[in-house]
Amino acid sequence: MKIQFDATTQTFHLQNEKISYIMQIVNGQYVAHVYWGARIRGTNLGGLLARRRRCSFSPSTDPSDLSLSLDTLPQEYPSYGTSDFRVPAYEILLENGTSASELVYDSHHIYLGKPRLNNLPSTYVEQEEEAQTLDMVMVDKASQLKVILTYTVFEAHAAITRSVRFVNEGAAELRLQRALSMSIDFSHASFDMLHLSGSWVRERHMERRPIAPGGHVVESRRGASSHSHNPFLALLSKDCGESHGEAYGISLVYSGSFTAQVEVDPYDTARVVMGINPFDFSWLLASGESFQTPETVLVYSNEGLGGMSRTYHHLYRTRLCRGMYRDQARPVLVNNWEATYFDFDAEKIIAIAETAHEVGMDLLVLDDGWFGKRDHDRSSLGDWFVDLRKLPDGLEDLVRRVNELQLKFGLWFEPEMISPESELYRKHPDWCLHVPNRRRTQARHQLILDFSREEVCDYIVEVLSAILSSSPIAYVKWDMNRNMTEIGSAALPPTRQRETAHRYMLGLYRVMEQLTSAFPHILFESCSGGGGRFDPGMLHYMPQTWTSDNTDAVERLKIQYGTSLVYPISAMGAHVSAVPNHQVHRVTSMDIRGHAAMSGNFGYELDLTKLTAEEKETVRQQIALYKELRPLIQYGDFYRLLSPFEGNQTAWMYVSSERSEALVMYFQVLAEPNPPLRKLRLQGLDPNMDYSVSGDWLADGEASMYGGDELVQIGLNLPQWKGDFRSCYYRLRAVR
Ligand code: DGJ
Repeated sequence: MKIQFDATTQTFHLQNEKISYIMQIVNGQYVAHVYWGARIRGTNLGGLLARRRRCSFSPSTDPSDLSLSLDTLPQEYPSYGTSDFRVPAYEILLENGTSASELVYDSHHIYLGKPRLNNLPSTYVEQEEEAQTLDMVMVDKASQLKVILTYTVFEAHAAITRSVRFVNEGAAELRLQRALSMSIDFSHASFDMLHLSGSWVRERHMERRPIAPGGHVVESRRGASSHSHNPFLALLSKDCGESHGEAYGISLVYSGSFTAQVEVDPYDTARVVMGINPFDFSWLLASGESFQTPETVLVYSNEGLGGMSRTYHHLYRTRLCRGMYRDQARPVLVNNWEATYFDFDAEKIIAIAETAHEVGMDLLVLDDGWFGKRDHDRSSLGDWFVDLRKLPDGLEDLVRRVNELQLKFGLWFEPEMISPESELYRKHPDWCLHVPNRRRTQARHQLILDFSREEVCDYIVEVLSAILSSSPIAYVKWDMNRNMTEIGSAALPPTRQRETAHRYMLGLYRVMEQLTSAFPHILFESCSGGGGRFDPGMLHYMPQTWTSDNTDAVERLKIQYGTSLVYPISAMGAHVSAVPNHQVHRVTSMDIRGHAAMSGNFGYELDLTKLTAEEKETVRQQIALYKELRPLIQYGDFYRLLSPFEGNQTAWMYVSSERSEALVMYFQVLAEPNPPLRKLRLQGLDPNMDYSVSGDWLADGEASMYGGDELVQIGLNLPQWKGDFRSCYYRLRAVR
């Protein structure tokens, strides 16, 4: 891995064994994007950039060289108003009311390692040798705005990170109207675009479409990364599939409103930009002040979408997630939400815990409703003191009793929220996000605490710390159940009101940093009505996320398949729930519910006290099986085999790093009359190894031996089933 600067050709070459990323300083001024893709040796880097004179509608900045036009030059961080008419990466508003600016190269610095971003989540290194970083310093001479483009290339991952820092070195203040984290100009537009979209209980469905002249936008204006769109987009070669073709993934390490845009220009080039959504954003930079953008993570794969996903999985699991649980087995848990909703008391929780202990679970999670007077969702958020009506002997006593059953104890919070019906709101009515003289719009009967205010953040850290220190709490579910409206802060002057949403995210990140550092033994799981904030920003603080409030096994196939495009399996919470399912009222088999949930961080979300003896035995067996398979599921390489978006069958598999073990999960949603004799071609196996294949679908003694080459080239024979909602698993163990 290295970053080279060639002074003769004025080119930068960022590379590792798999990828190259090349830039060139043109005319001693502009930083052009030359190439991003599979590694090249770099024989004639100076000769790669194509330039041609276009018409007068693409003006030149140099009268003596009409081939130099910012409108046609592929650029690294394009400006607005000085002859590039495409979508800009940033925009400023100067005191004189104008917005035109132009960044030119000033200097650069190449060094080992990767710096942490100030108060923002990011990927990291543990040893300096793991990465190299380039700071490219650009300036807008007229305003004396300095812009530092930071690029890091990792040794072990086909990934490059980018972020940007703005420093106002002028005497006058200026405003950032737009401050995106990256921009890349691809030399052609022959791509499909892939992104993850959906809604509450239908998160991260895969959407793929060709790009065409004009703009394509995926964004959130909700003050959260959101259920609707994920802060990720990929450009794919037309032939790109799961295991072949080129994929360029761009993922934003941020949990607030974002934009991801692709613009195809008249010359058929494609500009991609991503970052904080400029909509309702602006940031005042007084003289000497600076602004840091979030980080983007750029992954290139020429092994299709599967290759791209595995790079994200490895990088995010090992160098984005942090803390003790990063590398530890995740507990099998039972959560009481769908079992009781708000209607529980200590004895009910203990009864659930007793069965959880009997069947071999590790952790009991007490969800919403244990505090204030929270008998429904219309009150008490903010009143983080125990409801003694439900838990008469207090939290400590409940935790002690649960621990006596050899179960760890976990607790639900929704720390960013405040109910108007709460003691906290009566005491601090100005502590919520609001705009003077306007309605404070409620959603789920709640308002949002103003985390842009330091004293609000400090209060939450203090109150949560007190509870978390009061008893041995081993797990926290951090929920967030509405999006932002009337985004304003009572603590900010009018000139800074449009900073509120981003300042909120900075406050949230500070609170999470403080709490996760103060309680390093606690496993934190983030949640936002399920997967409304399933993003890399949250994963930096909390290594797992509740994937969706939809616990139906069939719906989960699409949700988990889509989520796996970017996010590691160890990040996905997945639980078996009761039937008829509470979200879609579907009745599915215990097998398919078990297999779908086992495909992530396994747990249960039903009233265990209502299980029959036979069901209890099934649960016990599922847990025992999961615990055996857990290392493979958590740390194995993940391969998607059959897409639930394309047909009635879904399959995926996990392969150990030495390829000596693998697990295949296969699902069929609806029964098929007189179906074909299907085979499932596997991936990731060693063609020279033989594997013994066993599984729940194969009859006793049927465990048979296949060559890795046979399983990859020809495939496993699949079962023919009667009945809907069927599933099975296959375990593969190398025998030589
Ligand atoms: C939304 C979460 O996604 C659910 O799992 C549950 O915790 C409820 N909130 C509780 O209000």
